Amino acid sequence: MDWIRYAVSWGPNTLCSTGEEGQLNGVKGVAGMDIGMYAEDYVPKQFRIQAHALREEAWPGLGGIPHDPALNPLTILLVTPDGEVTAVLDVLSKDIEHEGVRYRAAGLSSVVTAEAHQGKGHGRQLVAAAREIIAKSGADLGIFTCDRPLRGFYEGAGWRVLEGAVLVGGTPEAPFPSDRPGFDKVTMAGFFTERGRRGAASFRDARIGLYPGEIDRLW
Ligand SMILES: CC(C)(COP(=O)(O)OP(=O)(O)OC[C@H]1O[C@@H](n2cnc3c(N)ncnc32)[C@H](O)[C@@H]1OP(=O)(O)O)[C@@H](O)C(=O)NCCC(=O)NCCS
Repeated sequence: MDWIRYAVSWGPNTLCSTGEEGQLNGVKGVAGMDIGMYAEDYVPKQFRIQAHALREEAWPGLGGIPHDPALNPLTILLVTPDGEVTAVLDVLSKDIEHEGVRYRAAGLSSVVTAEAHQGKGHGRQLVAAAREIIAKSGADLGIFTCDRPLRGFYEGAGWRVLEGAVLVGGTPEAPFPSDRPGFDKVTMAGFFTERGRRGAASFRDARIGLYPGEIDRLW
């Protein structure tokens, strides 16, 4: 079953099956899981509580902080058939301007797999699903930063490194760049529309003004 097609065509606030294969474009996933995606404010309570617990496990004290509503936060969950959330992430999006061209950009935030399920392909499946969801959403590109050791994790789910690229978060007045002292980050991306693909080369070795604001300073 082409599970991602269902996820994308059904749109937000739906739950759909990953089918028996658990495969997407050669990305190996876990069979029989459900993908749910919801605007952050509309995540059903039973999932919200579990997603919060997963985030707290990874980032104690920070799991319950909501994203900036201006960034259209979308929560994507991987759920077992009996309703256990095994992995969750958020997609944030905004328009950016780069070298005089305006793009619709989206990125991943707060990706986490429950400790009990780590190392079994859940994270990869969720991150691959998010890539497809962003690609089908009309966004010109998906772009986000991650700690260097996680590069292979995201590459395994279809994302590619934007060599030499620095994502500048924060605001133009108070920038928060991904190459600030103490950070060792790489920028991951995917270019999905004609406009995005045309501009792709201009994003390499570039400082890219993301400027998501003060709440979600960088993604
Ligand atoms: C990072 C994380 C989401 C990975 O989820 P997961 O479900 O354990 O990952 P998967 O089982 O799908 O792993 C897929 C691949 O990525 C690799 N990988 C997983 N976690 C990794 C890590 N922390 N560092 C480097 N590689 C990693 C795996 O080895 C695997 O590679 P393989 O296919 O060659 O075996 C999970 O470790 C986690 O929740 N960490 C804490 C929160 C965090 O750091 N989030 C990311 C930053 S926002």
